[in-house]
Amino acid sequence: MLNYSQKVLDHFKNPRNVGKLEKADGVGEVGNLVCGDVMRLFIRVEDEVIKEISFETYGCAAAIATSSVITEMVKGKTISEVLKMSNKDIIDNLDGLPPIKIHCSLLSVDALSEAIWDYYQKKGKRVPKELKKRHERIEKLRKI
Ligand code: FES
Repeated sequence: MLNYSQKVLDHFKNPRNVGKLEKADGVGEVGNLVCGDVMRLFIRVEDEVIKEISFETYGCAAAIATSSVITEMVKGKTISEVLKMSNKDIIDNLDGLPPIKIHCSLLSVDALSEAIWDYYQKKGKRVPKELKKRHERIEKLRKI
């Protein structure tokens, strides 16, 4: 068994904000080509603040824990604050991840980026440059 922190184990065993969010303003879905894990993240936005967030993840313990913790970290923050977050923030918040599981944290950041991208598309808003770059990278991976 991998050496997971207590926080990772807690989020894995008791994941927060699980399930589909009805009438979400944005939905992001990403997958990892190597392991086959899939993550969907739903957001509801009001005045550029993420008011509600939930996820569905079919994946490993680290993927579930990072999905769960990102929902707690993001709720109540503005989109511009959220876009500054990296997978390192998530890993730190979980008191670390085994090196072999670092890539799992990227999945949650990508799912969140895609949910925000979807929100911007639906609202017809101008997409920030950094978000556009992330979306293009994720789209490229989808075509492999
Ligand atoms: Fe696939 Fe963790 S092993 S996301």
